[in-house]
Amino acid sequence: MEMIIAPSLLAANPACFGQEAARAERAGADWLHLDIMDGQFVPNISFGPAIVAAVRPRAKKLFFDVHLMCAKPEILLEQFAAAGADQIIIHVELGEHVGPLIWKIKKLGRKVGLAVNPPTAIAAAQPHLEQIDLLLVMTVNPGFGGQSFIHECLPKVQQADAWRRERELPYRISVDGGVNFQTAAECARAGADTFVAGTSLFGHRNLKAAVAKMRKIVNANDPALADLKV
Ligand code: DX5
Ligand code: ZN
Repeated sequence: MEMIIAPSLLAANPACFGQEAARAERAGADWLHLDIMDGQFVPNISFGPAIVAAVRPRAKKLFFDVHLMCAKPEILLEQFAAAGADQIIIHVELGEHVGPLIWKIKKLGRKVGLAVNPPTAIAAAQPHLEQIDLLLVMTVNPGFGGQSFIHECLPKVQQADAWRRERELPYRISVDGGVNFQTAAECARAGADTFVAGTSLFGHRNLKAAVAKMRKIVNANDPALADLKV
């Protein structure tokens, strides 16, 4: 599976999200990851559909990967689809609502992702694997960028990869939170193919070099490369 590098806009300069998205596109990123926080599902608020719609024309070629950390995603799905989301990720912690939400996202013609928080067992995602395009393993507790990667989440990536092989399913496995050059290599070794990285990419002046370095590391699967200078 082709490796996807997805800078997270949360770590970009909020005073100029449009330019930052364009910078990610010029840097050769594959996707732009957009973190939507509602102040309820997580103890923070980020931005909503109007910002996504405003940023969309500034980076037309990037795939918009919209991660809803929201207690009631059902009230937002149409708006994010109209704003230009290519994929909408919801959280498995929403329990009985997950099935209907997946169906609704598909009906809107968008790809579907399912995210699993660090304290949640990966088994919670198992009943939905045939319906989803991406499984997102959270590697920090969601709410804030710049946190440290939780290594205890790596076995979930391995389990997700084992299920994918056993059941011959096509879903991507994404990691999100504390992903830097070092931890990206560990995630790739565990079976991840989609790398969401905020601080470690947008924090670089030379985003193009940082994206290229992360791509090289996850493709080569060699942690020694993580020590190379950007
Ligand atoms: C965490 C978000 C992440 C975040 C990752 O709540 O879901 O997408 O932007 O940021 P870094 O890479 O800085 O941990
Ligand atoms: Zn995210």
